[in-house]
Amino acid sequence: MTHPLRLGIAGLGTVGVGVVSIIRRKTALLSARAGRPITISAVSARSRNKDRGVSLDGYAWEDDPVALARRDDVDVFVELMGGSDGPAKAATEAALAAGKDVVTANKAMLAIHGHTLAERAEAEGRVIRFEAAIAGGIPVVKALSEGLAGNSVTRVMGVMNGVCNYILTRMESAGLPYAEVFGEADRLGYLEADPTLDVGGIDAGHKLALLAAVAFGVRVGFDDVELEGIDRISVEDIGQARDLGYRIKLLGVAQMTARGLEQRMSPCLVPAGSPLGQLEGATNMTVLEGDAAGQIVLRGAGAGQGPTASAVMADVIDIARGCRIPVFGQPAATLKRAQPAKSVAPAAYYLRMALQDRPGALARIATVLGEAGVSIDRMRQYGHDTPTAPVLIITHETTRDALDRALDGLGRTGVLENDPVAIRIENV
Ligand code: NAP
Ligand code: HSE
Repeated sequence: MTHPLRLGIAGLGTVGVGVVSIIRRKTALLSARAGRPITISAVSARSRNKDRGVSLDGYAWEDDPVALARRDDVDVFVELMGGSDGPAKAATEAALAAGKDVVTANKAMLAIHGHTLAERAEAEGRVIRFEAAIAGGIPVVKALSEGLAGNSVTRVMGVMNGVCNYILTRMESAGLPYAEVFGEADRLGYLEADPTLDVGGIDAGHKLALLAAVAFGVRVGFDDVELEGIDRISVEDIGQARDLGYRIKLLGVAQMTARGLEQRMSPCLVPAGSPLGQLEGATNMTVLEGDAAGQIVLRGAGAGQGPTASAVMADVIDIARGCRIPVFGQPAATLKRAQPAKSVAPAAYYLRMALQDRPGALARIATVLGEAGVSIDRMRQYGHDTPTAPVLIITHETTRDALDRALDGLGRTGVLENDPVAIRIENV
């Protein structure tokens, strides 16, 4: 019989348990598809005695993931602990040094150390695969690095954080407050160990930077992603957007321009009837544009046990089959350092502000916008029984620079109760 591919799995949380469960339930199917059995030699997590709802019988236990990564009976180290540094990075490095391939779902680690780890893997003749790190069960890395390998990619974009989409859509559909929806997302296993990574847009920014590296053949440049989270979006914004025919999505866009690489992850209003606008719950969507293939749209579950474990297994099976692709789709030495560029494409903006309810306040706002070169498309002051007047403005298309000048000026008027909420409108 062909020799088995032997895994060492570090991390037995949401994703790790999903992987163990697939391997236990689908032994024959995996073996048939991979052309050899896929087995687990050893596992590691923090607490040995925790009931994980899946049998670990027959697997050796290691308290230390680094020791697991070095075991002689492990061919592939499966890193499912998380964290950009610490044990995840130490064990990944130990695995590569010991001649093991690595499969990981850890976008934080790869967004920060991906290039160095790729160089190290290639120096050792090993691969690192990370399908599960981006958009859960959607095979987007495979689509870019294999399916679209003959294209020059012009743009990648999408909704890539399940928690944020879940929170935004559930607040709208159930009229539930943020805290309650956040608790639901936690129970469903969508949240990162540090949830500010999710709601701060950082997790989605990690994913966008990784996708951009594969799409454009550049070194991962997470520090250059223009980032904004969903933490300032209120139920009021969600309702106002709906009344205008839009929904709010945390949208990522990366595109190579003559000025350099633009990478932006921020909440946007998108038309409610568009494919992105219709995304519900933890569903993700990635849109890939190639010069030969045109636009490819992939939609699916972006988080959770089954979808993420599915992506991990795709990578494991590829390794078992002998499919060996450089970490970011081409040798690390050929990945260019991208020149970061600020997005300059004009867009309309949604502005919501709380105005002191006194003569001339609204006129002052209109003047400041006009002086910054920002033209108003629609404006309304809606009903209130508070001393401040809620005002909503939709601008005509304008540049981010002009908008920033306007926001600066608005802050100095003395008629605003707090900083305005400004959300880009993307007619995608
Ligand atoms: P999780 O439920 O918090 O599980 C983390 C696991 O790692 C736990 O089993 C924990 O052990 C173990 N662990 C943590 N520190 C350790 C250490 N020092 N030594 C040994 N084991 C350690 O996390 P998760 O949701 O499965 O996520 C795992 C990875 O997948 C992360 O990189 C995450 O970003 C990524 N990811 C998650 C999802 C998702 O939907 N959850 C989707 C895509 C990617 P104990 O159980 O004993 O505490
Ligand atoms: N917290 C992440 C999300 C998990 O919600 O998308 C999947 O990467």
